[in-house]
Amino acid sequence: MQKKRLLTGVQPSGALHIGNYLGALRPFVSMYGEYESMLMIADYHALTTLKDPAQIRENILNAVRDYVAVGVDPKRVIIFQQSAVQAHTELAWILECQVTVPFLMQAHAYKDKVAKGLESNAGLFAYPMLMAADILMYDTDVVPVGQDQKQHVEYAREAAAKFNMAYGDTFKEPEEKILRSVAIVPGTDGKKMSKSYGNTIPLFGTRDEVHKAVMSIITDSKGESPENVYAIHRLIKDETEIASLYKSNKGKYKVLKDALAADIEALVAPMRERRESISDADVIRILKDGAEKAREHAEAKMQIVRRKVGVLLA
Ligand code: ADP
Ligand code: TRP
Repeated sequence: MQKKRLLTGVQPSGALHIGNYLGALRPFVSMYGEYESMLMIADYHALTTLKDPAQIRENILNAVRDYVAVGVDPKRVIIFQQSAVQAHTELAWILECQVTVPFLMQAHAYKDKVAKGLESNAGLFAYPMLMAADILMYDTDVVPVGQDQKQHVEYAREAAAKFNMAYGDTFKEPEEKILRSVAIVPGTDGKKMSKSYGNTIPLFGTRDEVHKAVMSIITDSKGESPENVYAIHRLIKDETEIASLYKSNKGKYKVLKDALAADIEALVAPMRERRESISDADVIRILKDGAEKAREHAEAKMQIVRRKVGVLLA
């Protein structure tokens, strides 16, 4: 039986933390084999907020390295840059012509970003239609995303329906797959771990950086068990093993933090080693190969789309 198509996108937005790993990368690794999978580096989405060219370049290289290091096999997943398949921005334009300004105004992510003081550039506003193009281009069945991106997948469905209504059946309506495996990973202050809160434990930090971040976890001196330490620990180690660890070390916060740091190190060390072995040239090769494959699909689809909207004459 033909496998279903899965596509997900990641913005190349900087160093990953443990929350990204447990909430997004690890679930992706555990599921991608069941599908015809594509992993897209959403560099043009990143351009809505990131304006430093050197930083963007560095982040793109690192995003690929990170995914390969945690176990994504580039031979089994098409890994490519959004900007390398120009049909994405072309299709985004066509989809933008199908939807209204009030419809896009309802996007939570847009409203949140503007409320946080980000520049409301036209790219940020049209963002959901570029994401819809990413998804619809490949007749995607399943889109694994975090809860925060659910509405954007709904926008993609809506854009597909609008286009199909206007021009006849062309796009498949995709389904989101909300990654729920670990819910929300708490940070060093007990709130959601997020780079914007400065409460992260880096995924690919050095042993010392990870240790320092673990030591900074805020603990409540009243209880016998440091809850914020345990909340992270239970996500990376077998529940029964840590239950006995915490039971026999009641009140010994330093011992428990050292144990958490050691367990993170054991988890990360092999991935860090693999990551260090991936050169820029390796990444560029992976992306070139991925772009060629993606372009083949995209071009075939765009021929159909251009013909349907009437711009393709011959
Ligand atoms: P951040 O909040 O640090 O800016 P992003 O928004 O860039 O993280 O998230 C990238 C991916 O990692 C998303 O799929 C998101 O759902 C996941 N993720 C981020 N932080 C966490 C967390 N604390 N717990 C679980 N998943 C997370
Ligand atoms: N907007 C997504 C995010 O910020 C990234 C993304 C871009 C994406 N295009 C996509 C995710 C297509 C899934 C499918 O996380």
